[in-house]
Order: sequence, then C-alpha cells, then structure tokens
Amino acid sequence: MTPPARPQWLRRPDNVAPGLAYGADYNPEQWPREVWRDDVRLMREAGVNIVSLAIFSWAKLQPAEDTWRFGWLDEVMGLLYDNGIAVDLATATASPPPWLTAKHPEILPVNARGETVWPGGRQHWRPTSPIFREHALALVDKMAARYADHPALTAWHVSNELGCHNVYDYSDDAARAFRDWLRDRYATLDALNHAWGTAFWSQEYSDWAQILPPRLAATHPNPTQQLDFKRFSSDALRQHLRAERDILHRHTPDVPVTTNFMIMGGTKGMDYAAWAADIDFVSNDHYVEPGPQAFDELSFSANLTGNIAGGRPWFLMEHSTSAVNWQPVNVAKKPGELARDSLTHVAHGADAVCFFQWRQSAAGAEKYHSAMVPHAGEDSDVFRAAGALGATLRDLAPVAGTTREQAPAAIVFHWDSWWAAEADSHPTDRLRYRQEALDWYTALLNLGIRADVVPLGTALDGYSLVVAPMLHMVSAPAAKELQAYAESGGHLVTTYFSGIVDEHDHVWLGGHPGALRDLLGVRVEEFAPLLDTESVTVDGDLAATLWTERVQVTGSDVAVLSRYAGGEHAGHPAVTRRAVGAGSAAYVSTRLGAQGVTAILAGLAEAAGVTSELPAEARGAVELTVRHRGRERFAFLVNRTDQPTTVTGLPGEALVGTRGPDGELPLAPRGAAVLRLA
Ligand code: GLA
Ligand code: GLA
Repeated sequence: MTPPARPQWLRRPDNVAPGLAYGADYNPEQWPREVWRDDVRLMREAGVNIVSLAIFSWAKLQPAEDTWRFGWLDEVMGLLYDNGIAVDLATATASPPPWLTAKHPEILPVNARGETVWPGGRQHWRPTSPIFREHALALVDKMAARYADHPALTAWHVSNELGCHNVYDYSDDAARAFRDWLRDRYATLDALNHAWGTAFWSQEYSDWAQILPPRLAATHPNPTQQLDFKRFSSDALRQHLRAERDILHRHTPDVPVTTNFMIMGGTKGMDYAAWAADIDFVSNDHYVEPGPQAFDELSFSANLTGNIAGGRPWFLMEHSTSAVNWQPVNVAKKPGELARDSLTHVAHGADAVCFFQWRQSAAGAEKYHSAMVPHAGEDSDVFRAAGALGATLRDLAPVAGTTREQAPAAIVFHWDSWWAAEADSHPTDRLRYRQEALDWYTALLNLGIRADVVPLGTALDGYSLVVAPMLHMVSAPAAKELQAYAESGGHLVTTYFSGIVDEHDHVWLGGHPGALRDLLGVRVEEFAPLLDTESVTVDGDLAATLWTERVQVTGSDVAVLSRYAGGEHAGHPAVTRRAVGAGSAAYVSTRLGAQGVTAILAGLAEAAGVTSELPAEARGAVELTVRHRGRERFAFLVNRTDQPTTVTGLPGEALVGTRGPDGELPLAPRGAAVLRLA
C-alpha cells in the first residue's frame, strides 16, 4: 500500500485567509502575560497571520525530568488562534535545559582539540548522542500528542537551524557514528583505504575501530577523511531531523514538517540540496551581510533556496527587520530595505515571509537584534514599515501557490566542491568558492540576465547558458553529463580549479582540469596562484588576481577569447571557448572578480543567444524574476541600487508599484514592483 501523499504546504486554520503567510518567531516566554495581549493586538495591526512558537522553550515546558508544564503554551496557542494567527510549532529541542546537561554532560559536543563545548549558549548537544536523542524525542512526542488537533497548528518546525553551532562534533559518540557511516559508504576497509589514500603517511587502517574523526593532528589531517567527516556531519544532523520528523508524521499525517535551513553567506556545513528530501517543504533563514554585493548575495541565496525547493513555494522563516547582533558591526537597514529584501525572497518563490523576531528582547544575547516591535515600541519606523509590508503582502495574495519560472541561464552550486576546494594544503588558501559563484551571479544581474542558481544534479537541458564556477570535484558521471549538455546545444562556462578531483578527492591525472580537459580542449601542467600583492592584466584591461596558469590549447575548435597581457603567462590564453556539438564549453583560468566576469560573460551570453528580457535602461539596475501558474505570470522588478530608476515598456497590472502618467514604472531606491503580466 502506498502511503498517502504528504501535504506540501501549510495546513490553513479555518480562520486564516488564503494568501502569503507573514509573521515572526514569537518568544512569549520572555514576557509577562500582559504583554501577550498587546502582542496579538499589534500582530493583527501589522497583518501578521503566522508565528513560529516554542523554538527555545524546552526549559519552560520541561523544567525537570519528570515535570511537564504546557499550560502557558496552551494559553498562547489559544490566544493566537482566537486572533486568526496560525502557529508553526517548534519541537522545542534546539537548546537543552540545564537539568539535562547537568545530569548528562556526555551529551555536550567536543571540539577538534578535545575540549567540551559547555552550556550557556544554545545548541550544546551532540547530533549523534543517543541520550540527547532519547530526551529530545520524548519532548517531540509530548508536543505532537498534545497539539496534534489544535486548530492553530499549521506546520511543525523541527529544532532550529540544525547545525548552526554544533555541526562539527568530535566526541566518542561522533567517532562511533562516523564509523557506521563509513561502513555504509565503503562496505570494506580496502575500499576506505583506497578512497582515503591511506598509503600516504602510513595511515592504512586494519580495523574499523582505529578510525577517528579528524581531531587535532600534528599536521594536515587526511583530506578525504576531512571531506568524509564533513559529509558525515551533514548527514548526522539529517538523521536527527528524520528522527523528529517521523514522530511528527506518526501523530499528524496531515500537518507538514519543515526545518529552517541557513542558505546564506558563509554557512557551509550542511548540504541542503540533500536535506530537502527529508522535509515536506523547504524553509530558509537569511541575514544580509553588508558590503557591495549584499543585495546580490540575498538574491543568490533566495534563488538557490527556491531551486532546492524544486521551484515550489518555500518559507522564509527568518530575516531581520533591521540590524542583527552577531556581526562585527551591525548595520541598520536603510529605508525601503525591509520591504525590498522581503519581496526579493517572494520573487524567488517564498510564500511566507517571517522575521526573527516579533518583539525585541530586553535581556539575553540578542537584545540588540532588531525585531518587528523594537525597544522603541509601536511608535517606530520599523513597526510602521513592518505594517506596510503586511499590507503589500496582502496585495500579493494572487501570487501564493505560483512556482518559479525557469530562467534562460543557470549557475551550478555544489557543496562537495565548496568543501573540497577550500580544504587545507592546497595551492592557495585564498580560494573562496561561494564568492566566485556570487561574482558570476552579480555579472548576470549586471547584464540583466535572469538566472537560476541550481544544485549540481539538476537537469540542465532547459538552460541555454550554464556557469559552473570552481566546480572542483567532478565525478566521471558528472563529467559525462556536462559533456552531454554541451553536445546537445548547451553553452557551459567553467573556471580555474574546476574538474581537478574525483569524488574521493583524488586528482584526475594527465594534466588539469582532468575531468573537463577534453570537453574544454585545454591542458594545464601547473597551477600558478598569485600572492596577495600580485595581479596581472588580461586583454581588455581586466585585472586578474589569486590564480593564473599556463593554458595550452589541445582540442580542436578552441577559440582563445582573451590572453594574459602581462606576467609570466603574457600572450598565453586566459579565456577559451571550444565549440562542442551544437553547444560550447568555455574556460576562465583566473579570478576576474564581478566586474571582470561581467565583461567576459557579455560575450559568452551573446554567443549562447541569451539576452536580457529587461528594457535597456533597466539592465543592471533592476533584477527581474518571474513566478507563474500555468499561463498566468507575475514579474517581480527589484531595484538593486540606491538610486531611483524607471522601467518602461513592460505590460501588465501593477499589484505592487504605481505607474506614472506614460505607463512607466518608477522604482524608488531599493524599491520593488510586481506586475501581473497581461
Ligand atoms: C618535509 C617532509 C616531507 C614532505 C615535505 C613537503 O620535508 O620531510 O615528507 O612533507 O616536507 O614540503
Ligand atoms: C538565527 C536563529 C534565531 C536568531 C537569529 C538572529 O537565525 O535561528 O534564533 O538567533 O539567528 O539573527
């Protein structure tokens, strides 16, 4: 018998209107009861229709091993329901209470140096601890049983940001689980010894029990051991996720289960492309990192999240109304940014927009983190902006349930390549995988070309142009797929340090970039990374940093698009493009940065027949994204810049934004508009 299909989106309480979900993490346990009444009044005023509840409530719900206190949560759930606010209910397992860690210090994580990670913050638990698991699952079971039929319950929220602080644990529990994971992966010690290249430095294992996590070592620990430990650590958290999920599914088959990912900036430890299969719908948390590519990075993350969600709607579980508290300098958002950031997530498929958090804490480590209701109270620009966004999202109700429309171009993203490319003992420790990918994304935005950011393994055939930046780890089947993509008419672009190693981190021999050498028609004998103080020029006056190499053209039909103009490799190819079947494969052998790759990509996109869908004057300033439902299409236009701009010549009813006298669509600095295309 096949089990019934799982719900793929929120279960809507009978008193909540359909449309986009809007709200925040709600932490009523930090406030006296009087404030709760005020909270729901203000939530209604701001248009809030959903909150995430009980995320850090374990100690309040279970103050001692045999004491359970659900009364306060019953009351809050009831109050929210009575006010038409749905509840994304957390399992409350994110931060174990002091009684548990005092009784069982063996659930505390251990770092690579063998030091215990003590309580006092949060997430001080080993993902592989059987004792932690048992206590956490007991709590999940209680929560699920108690609230299964609650009319406000709209989704389950497993733990919180799994792996945010505890992805790497080197404890004895981790060692045991790592061995089990390795047995599953390799079956025999011979296979493991081969994969890890243990002939090197006398590392051959003769018994599984000898294998350890890559704890503090005298020098670089085995690279494949390190890589497998990263893979294992991501999987260990997934196993915890699945264990909580299974209990929730058993109690409430009709309530979807999610957990909040952290697809943003430097969060590197969790392979979310794999995790998506474990939950009913994808959720993400995103925080802006100030800098010249702050907006582009937000869009990149939202885009990747949308594609990991398979194009289906996803839940923006957290972002900030203004400053955070955990960056070196916590910058306040500028006018317009709160709405622009939110609408960019919606543009990329979010059907729920939530903030961390509802009411700014007066105490605790996050008291300087912005919220929907700031310290200043409701008489504040932030609360007014939050209310205005609530109204905008109501206007966007017709967008709910629509999916991402595939773009003409794509950027391929691959966690294994990220992990492997940035490993130690490499030609340079300056390689930044995500930054390289982001630079290409910025280039696409600069050119006004709509692009998807997709995990490796996504079918590429619908894309005319695919950029695979620093695709370091390429297995034989992946190389074949890229070859087939180009042969069948696709235009592939890849960069330095791509195609270098196989899935075990073994170098493809015979010259770089081994796995892609034939496809690209180039051969490199030796890498020539640059010192921080060095740069070279590439034709067209582009500055290249970080990496160079002597590129030999070996294949037929290879055009040299640009050459090194200075340095050791002056006159030799820097960028090449090979005609392959009906398509092509281009290679960029150095780091050109966002501006440099914009110049290179302009020509490559043109050759691939990919052009901007935006009117000329809006290219570069505006990001265009499309969501659709059958033939109904919604165009999101987002101003990336701090200057006003205008979009002309696009038809359709403005759901957000106001047309000028001649039908033009003005966009304020950091402004956004949404059109229902005719
Ligand atoms: C030392 C060691 C060698 C090798 C080299 C690398 O000389 O003896 O085994 O590791 O460093 O530079
Ligand atoms: C994460 C957590 C929240 C909060 C925010 C602050 O996203 O999930 O609990 O700590 O960061 O930015």
